[in-house]
Amino acid sequence: MSTGLSSANPGAPLLEVRDLTRAFTVAQGLFGRSLTRVRAVDGVSFNLDAGCTFAIVGESGCGKSTVARLLLRLIEPDDGSIRLEGHDLRALDPAELRRSRARIQMVFQDPYGSLNPRIRVGEMLAEPLLLHTDLAPGARRERVSELLSLVGLPAEAAARYPHEFSGGQRQRLAIARALAASPRLIVCDEPVSALDVSIQAQILNLLAELQERFNLAYVFISHDLAVVRQMADRLAVMYLGRFAETGPAGRIFASPRHPYTRALLSAVPVPDPDRTVSEPALGGDVPSPLNPPSGCSFHTRCPHARERCTAEQPALEDAGDGVQVACWFWRELPPAAGVAVSVSTDKTLSRLQAAFLRHSSTSS
Ligand SMILES: Nc1ncnc2c1ncn2[C@@H]1O[C@H](COP(=O)(O)OP(=O)(O)OP(=O)(O)O)[C@@H](O)[C@H]1O
Ligand code: SF4
Ligand SMILES: [Mg+2]
Repeated sequence: MSTGLSSANPGAPLLEVRDLTRAFTVAQGLFGRSLTRVRAVDGVSFNLDAGCTFAIVGESGCGKSTVARLLLRLIEPDDGSIRLEGHDLRALDPAELRRSRARIQMVFQDPYGSLNPRIRVGEMLAEPLLLHTDLAPGARRERVSELLSLVGLPAEAAARYPHEFSGGQRQRLAIARALAASPRLIVCDEPVSALDVSIQAQILNLLAELQERFNLAYVFISHDLAVVRQMADRLAVMYLGRFAETGPAGRIFASPRHPYTRALLSAVPVPDPDRTVSEPALGGDVPSPLNPPSGCSFHTRCPHARERCTAEQPALEDAGDGVQVACWFWRELPPAAGVAVSVSTDKTLSRLQAAFLRHSSTSS
């Protein structure tokens, strides 16, 4: 089976993102007469290895989906680089870009909107096979049945239309379509947030099983730290277009350093009787990206803000244990109680705990 690009540099991380930046021009003011630039993504960098999950978490409007669309080159960056298996994705011509789609796929939040309602499931799953493989018709039909089985659906589903499925089943179909051309990386943008809580754990478990089976890498985007905790090996906490804190997920959950991470984490329900909440809950709304605060963009909501924070923007700096933090005063903050679980070594336990918590909260 043809799978698109071959690896340019076998020793490189699967995905290397450097200084990714994208601004949009938007109309502002009465009758939209003045134009202004929104820096949706502002200097984002990270690496992702095969078989691992890099999660991006943050409140609405912080730039998560823009990162996703940039990675797929659905929109073009203003600056920065994206390398997949050593290949510079920005340098690909249209034909190479089409081939690269076999290696990098996307699952969207809305399983209703992301599937074409007018074509049968079998046809939908055959489309990427026609595009990216040279399978003969019989082998294609077999591959469609295999894909349905991989996501827990019967072979007969191929003859049905997307509207004949439930929300969870439709997300399974979206995952099957993403898997069709045997990608190395799937960008999942809020893949469970449109689903009923009881279905969320099933889809997360499915993603985890598929990851293990096919050594898939995920960029996993969510506004929900409780969901992210079940999936992430590495994590970035994003605020107004920039990473506030990034590093191994287990370390960040156990010992959050940035005031924003600490505030988000203090709101996550965890089955840990020894845990104390040490950070005030997050107050106020995210400031308008049209007019972001000066200095550290979190200063308008930060309980630890001082004068310097309003004037100077902190860059990410090493904080030990592979963690990077963008805060002038993280060293001086009292230790924060985190979530004492090694996410990277026990994602399954974490998923089971979350499923239990979600079931108990919906049944009470
Ligand atoms: N095509 C566009 N034109 C103008 N502004 C845009 C466009 N796409 C995104 N933006 C702006 O960029 C910022 C980041 O948007 P983005 O959709 O990436 O956020 P998000 O973190 O995915 O939010 P959510 O959690 O609500 O999905 C927002 O201020 C948004 O209004
Ligand atoms: S730099 Fe200042 S405002 Fe920003 S997070 Fe740190 S303490 Fe808070
Ligand atoms: Mg989004």
